[in-house]
Amino acid sequence: MDRFLVQGGRPLEGRVTISGAKNAALPAMAAALLTSERMVLHNVPRVRDIGTMRSLLDELGVDSSVTHDEVGNTLEIQAVRLLNSQAPYELVKQMRASILVLGPLLARFAEARVSLPGGCAIGARPVNLHLKGLEKLGATIDLEHGYIHARASRLKGAAFYFDTVSVTGTENLMMAAVLAEGETLLENAAREPEVEDLATLLVKMGARIEGMGTDCLRIHGVGALHGAEHRIIPDRIETGTFLTAAGVTGGRLILEHVEPAHVTAVMAKLEAAGVRIVPSGDHELIATGPQNLRAADVTTQEYPGFPTDMQAQYMALATQAQGSSVITETIFENRYLHALELVRMGADIQVEGRQAVVRGRTALSGAPVQASDLRASASLVLAALAASGETLIDRVYHIDRGYERIEEKLVKIGARIRRVLDD
Ligand code: UD1
Repeated sequence: MDRFLVQGGRPLEGRVTISGAKNAALPAMAAALLTSERMVLHNVPRVRDIGTMRSLLDELGVDSSVTHDEVGNTLEIQAVRLLNSQAPYELVKQMRASILVLGPLLARFAEARVSLPGGCAIGARPVNLHLKGLEKLGATIDLEHGYIHARASRLKGAAFYFDTVSVTGTENLMMAAVLAEGETLLENAAREPEVEDLATLLVKMGARIEGMGTDCLRIHGVGALHGAEHRIIPDRIETGTFLTAAGVTGGRLILEHVEPAHVTAVMAKLEAAGVRIVPSGDHELIATGPQNLRAADVTTQEYPGFPTDMQAQYMALATQAQGSSVITETIFENRYLHALELVRMGADIQVEGRQAVVRGRTALSGAPVQASDLRASASLVLAALAASGETLIDRVYHIDRGYERIEEKLVKIGARIRRVLDD
C-alpha cells in the first residue's frame, strides 16, 4: 500500500489549480445511463472513484472513453444498450456511490440489481431512503443475497418526503423521476451544489425540473432524454482543503478554477479562525494564513452549512488555533477516527459522542499515522504539513479516491511530501 512521507513545518506558497468535483462527476456519469445518445463530460477529476464508476459502466456494457485536457479529463459515454443490469459487490464495496446507477437503470431499463453497500468507516450509512423513494415511484424492491433487486415496467410520478436530507438519495430519485410518467415532488431534498449540477445536466438532456437548488424539486417526467455536453463544477471540498492548508501552515495560496459561492460556510469559519481570504476575479481565491490562528466552533450541516466532508481538515487546523474549538458532527455518527491519529501527533482532542473538543495550540510532531477514510487522510496530510519532523501516512489509497494527485499539487507550492511506493 502506498504511503506519504511528509516533512512538515513550511508555509505553503503559490498557485493551485482546483479540479472538478468528484461528487458531481459521479452522478453525471450515472446519468449517461438515461439516454442512448452520447454524453460528453468535461473537467472530470483524475481520481480513483471515477475509474471505479467507469469500471461499473463497463460491467454494464456501456462504452466510455477519456481524453486528457490541460485541466481534468473529458469523458465520453454512450449507453446504447446494456449487457446486464447488475452492479456487483466487488465494485460497490470499493465505492458506495455505485448506488447512483440504481435510479437510472430502473428508469430506462425497467430492472436493476445493485449490491447493498453495507457499513463503512464513518457510520452505518443506510440506503433506506433511496429504496423507499423508488417504491413510492412504483418500483418493486426485493433484497436478496446481499443485492437490491428493483423492477418497474414504467415508474410513476409521486410525492416523496426525505426524513433525512440525503445527497445521493436525492440524485437517485431525481434520475428515476425524469423518465417516470407524470409529476414527482421531492421534498426536503438535498441542496448541495453537486445535486444542482446534476439537475442542470438533466435539463440539458431534455428533463423538466423546477426548483433546482432548492429543497423542493418538481419533476415532470418525459418519454426519453437525449445526449448532452457538460462541464463539471469545481470541487468545493478540495477548495476548502487547500484554503485550510494555507491557514494551517501560515502560507499564502492562490486557488484557481474555484466557485467561491460554494464555499461560503467554509470561508466564514476559516476567516473566524483568522485566515484572510479574498477573491481575485470570478474564479480565484487568495488565502493567507495568520501568525496566530484563533479557535472557532464548527457544526457540520447540510448545504449551505459547513460540510461534513471538511470536518476532519478543519480539526487539523483547530489543533493549531489558540483556545478551545468545539466541533459537532451532525451528519455521520462515527466520523472522528482521524482525531485519534491527530492525538498521536500531539493534539489535545476529547471526543464524546458527536462532539470533539480541540484544545490549542499544541505543537504537532511527526509520527507514523494511518488514514481511515478519504477526508481523514486529507486531515492527516494537513497536520503533517504543520508538524515538526517527519510523518509517514499509511493507507493513502483513501486520498487517491477523491483528491487528484494531491502530493504533486502540494510539491508545487513548496511542501516536502513524497509518495513511498510498496516494494
Ligand atoms: C454524499 C457525499 C459524501 C458526503 C455526504 C454528506 C457523494 C458521492 N458523497 O454521501 O461525500 O459526506 O453526501 O454530505 O456525493 N441516510 C439515511 N438513509 C438513506 C441515505 C442517507 O439515513 O437512505 C443518512 C446517512 O446515514 C447520513 C445522512 O443521511 O447520516 C446523509 O447522508 P447522504 O447525504 O445520503 O450521504 P451520501 O449521499 O452517501
